[in-house]
Amino acid sequence: MLDAKTIEIVKSTVPALREHGLTITKTFYKNMFEKNPEIKPFFNMAKQESGAQPKALAMTVLAAAENIEDLSRLMPAVEKIAKVHCDCMVVPEQYPIIGKHLLGAIKEVLGDAATDEILDAWGKAYGVIADIFIEVEKKEYASRA
Ligand code: HEM
Repeated sequence: MLDAKTIEIVKSTVPALREHGLTITKTFYKNMFEKNPEIKPFFNMAKQESGAQPKALAMTVLAAAENIEDLSRLMPAVEKIAKVHCDCMVVPEQYPIIGKHLLGAIKEVLGDAATDEILDAWGKAYGVIADIFIEVEKKEYASRA
């Protein structure tokens, strides 16, 4: 579990990041598809263009971070997203790629305000959130097998 200081830092930066949600999302996908093109075929580009899905991923991470002390509230959403992920054959190895570009986007958007302390806290929080998805998806794949 995360320490109190990390939780405090993450929660204190969520409102600012939410405010810039669209910029973060755009930066995140642009950088990820450029730097890790192998991940692109997993995504539905029509949805990317309509804006239906793009915001969902970054916003879900922010919502999870906001509720990092009690993630049970997010479990219904996680269960639903996990089913979509399993339909798309998402694997645990892809989570660090998403994490890297999400953190990169946060850094780009926050600029100088993104101190090492903030980025470190976000890295830890993303790790906890990703582990929850990976665990739920592992069970979902097993039940489908
Ligand atoms: C903690 C990390 C992640 C979060 C919070 C997240 C969140 C979401 C959300 C909210 C959706 C929309 C679900 C719906 O349509 O109802 C989604 C869909 C999707 N996610 Fe994730 N996701 C994460 C990690 C990943 C990873 C590692 C991949 C790997 C490629 C991935 C690939 C996809 C794909 C392919 C879709 C389907 C949408 C499309 O076709 O464009 N996600 N995700």
